[in-house]
Formats: sequence, structure tokens, C-alpha cells
Amino acid sequence: MNMRFTYEDAAFALNENDVEALGKVSEEVLRRVLAKEGRGSDFLGWVDLPGNVSDFDFGKIGKCVEHYSAKSDVVVVIGIGGSYLGARAVIEALQHAFAPYVKGKAPRVLYAGNNISEDYLHDLLEVLDGCDYSMIVISKSGTTTEPALAFRVIKDHCERKYGKEEAAGRIIAVTDGARGALKAMADKEHYPTFVIPDDVGGRYSVLTPVGLLPIAFAGFDIRELVRGARDMQNFVTENISFDKNPVLRYATVRNLLYKQGLKVELMASFEPQLFFFIEWYKQLFGESEGKENKGIFPAGAIFSTDLHSLGQYIQEGTRQLFETVIAVDNCHHKVEIPYDGEDLDNLNYLQKRSINEINQIARKGTCLAHVEGKVPNMRVTIPEINEYNLGQLIYFFEISCAVSGYLLDVNPFDQPGVEAYKKNMFKLLGKPGVE
Ligand code: PA5
Repeated sequence: MNMRFTYEDAAFALNENDVEALGKVSEEVLRRVLAKEGRGSDFLGWVDLPGNVSDFDFGKIGKCVEHYSAKSDVVVVIGIGGSYLGARAVIEALQHAFAPYVKGKAPRVLYAGNNISEDYLHDLLEVLDGCDYSMIVISKSGTTTEPALAFRVIKDHCERKYGKEEAAGRIIAVTDGARGALKAMADKEHYPTFVIPDDVGGRYSVLTPVGLLPIAFAGFDIRELVRGARDMQNFVTENISFDKNPVLRYATVRNLLYKQGLKVELMASFEPQLFFFIEWYKQLFGESEGKENKGIFPAGAIFSTDLHSLGQYIQEGTRQLFETVIAVDNCHHKVEIPYDGEDLDNLNYLQKRSINEINQIARKGTCLAHVEGKVPNMRVTIPEINEYNLGQLIYFFEISCAVSGYLLDVNPFDQPGVEAYKKNMFKLLGKPGVE
């Protein structure tokens, strides 16, 4: 397994007997997850997903990408929450940091339906005026307002641009196999449709067509992504002992820290490409754990950027945080510090060292400082950012989230609280039938 996990920099805050005792409970909890027992167990289909994606599935996605890419410069992915973040997390981690400005690397995937901003949609339509495009509309329920609104507007744009018949040939739906408005529209208009399995909830769906289709459109290797997840699945489901299993150690330690009053987990990375991966983590854990007046608040940061904003608070503010860092050993490229004859910036002592070497030292220095400031630190390390290692991280965090949610004694697979804002919005909008 490529991924490594350690909580050695959190050990100062833990009592070994407590770790051992809760570690044993975690082992039982993981067995329960794998046996698909426990709260919300109807939604545990994602547990077996990596091992279940077949050659047929890859082939179907591959053919679809080929067909639509031939007539499209870009693909608009319309979705929100779990129907959006997983794909974006992987795509943004893998694509060129300045993709729009590099010839031949322009992003092939654009996003809509993840907000209700009129200016955002206007600007997107302006881009779509000037290029050929197709769209993937993703919604498990098929009734979520944000993607439904964006789809209506973009479909209308597409029909005016290409005519109704050709527009229908530029739409792919990813939705439930039987229910929802999107399913009904797809059937009526004969859109090619990919089905989201009944037993996989939105935020656990990145390894279904919800994530795999957009990721493949962006040009990345979904077989490698799934292979990474599968290797993680095999490892963590075959080694159910606290000492060996990173899932059990991570879930146990974060729950022990929570019980001690550390209510916020700051997920941090020193690689800005992982910004959306951290957004995905925030949604996964936030919606899974934050209920019944319980749950660790999932926050995110990119260092060293945020050391110059949140850094002061982390070091000396209210002691309510622990930190988990996603560390990356190696970069794909090398940039060395050049020698400067005048050395007015006093940086010659760093000459010939690589930027990554300095970034790694910044990470170690930050960890030492935060531990000194009584912020327990855990670390998840991958050798480099690629599809295989992202697949490992995805499965690691998904199954950790399930175990952690059960340790908290909540149902990690529902999201009743998300309805509250919707009800108010519908009432205020005067939706027929809503009191
Ligand atoms: O994780 C979840 O279940 C949610 O975040 C959903 O993915 C999100 O609300 C979008 O739902 P839908 O796919 O039904 O449009």
C-alpha cells in the first residue's frame, strides 16, 4: 500500500489505554460496516465498489467519452454536493495548475449547478457561446434545485445554439435507475443514462459514473483511480487489527480527540492542487457526522498560504483544533533555487535546493510548531499525486468516515439537516404545494 498514516504527533494528547480500548471497539465497528449491519446499512454499497467496477463499465464510459469528445471542446458537469465534489477533487488534483493558460491543457470540464449565482451562470454561458460543448447532468434524486435550475438554463442555451434535436445529442444523464424528474426527462428525451446504484449515497459516489465519467472526460486514467481504491479496500478489509489498519487508527484517534473537547479537524495540505480534495473531505465528513447535535467540524486549509491567515489562530487561538495533514513526498517537476551574485535577499544559503525540499521542511516546521501549541497532528502521506494514490485516499477517507460516524453513534449515510434550508427556500419562492 502506498499511503502511510501516523498519529505520532498526536500521541502527546492521548492516553494509551484509551487508544487501546477504543481501538478494539473500532475493530468491531469496521466488521459491522463490512457486514453491512448498523444504522443506514442500506447505503453501504460503496464499500464493495472498487472491486465491482467491471471492464464493461470502463468500456461504456470510454465509448461515451470518445463519442462526445469528438464534437465538444468542453463538457459542462452539472451537479452539487456529492454529485459534483468527488469529480472536481480528482480533476483539480491532476490537472495543470494553470490549465486555462497552457496550450493543449485547457480544462475540458467546466462546472455548473453547484451554486445559484446569476453572474456565474451568465459568465459560463458566455464561454459556451464561443465553443462546442456537451453536458453531463448528475443528480441522484433528480430533484435538487441547484442542478435542475442550471440544467434548464444550459439546455435552453444549447437548444438555441444547436437546435432541439442536436442539443438532445449533447446531454448525458447520471441519475437513479427508476425515480426522479431527471430520470423521467432522460427517458422521454432518450438521453444516454448512467445509473447511480440505490445503495450508494451522493457523497460516497465518486467511484460510480458520478465521478468516473467527468474524470474520464477530463482525460485522466479512471482504471488507475479504481485500482488504487481497490488496493486500499483489500488492505483495510483484510487487516482488521488496530496496529495494522490506518482506517482504525485514524477513526479512533479523531474520536478520542473529539471526546477531549477538540471539536474541529483541520484537514491541511501543502499542495494547492488538493484544495478540492479537501472540499470533498469536508462534505463527506460534514454531512456524515454532523447530526444529533454531535460531530467533528471538518475545516480545511492549504499551507503555507493559510499559515499567513489561519496560522496565528492555529498556533495560539482557542484550543479546539486537531490537524490532519495530507502530505505528498514527491513533485512531478523540479524547480531549483538559483544562485544570486548579490544575495540581497539573503537566500544564497538555499541555492541548488529544490522548492519541494523547502516545502517539506516547512511542513515539518509547522508540525513542530503546532504540536508545541498543543494542536495534535495526524498525517496521511502519499508518494505523489496521481490517479492510483488518489484512489487510495478516496477509499481510506470513505471507510474512515463510516467507522468514525458509527463510533460517534450517528447514521453516517443520511442528511436530514440539509432539508431545512430547502423547505424555507421553497416556501419563500412560493413553490406550489409547499405550505
Ligand atoms: O451526499 C449527498 O447525499 C448530497 O450531498 C447530495 O449529493 C447532494 O445534495 C446532491 O443530491 P442529488 O444528487 O440528489 O442532486
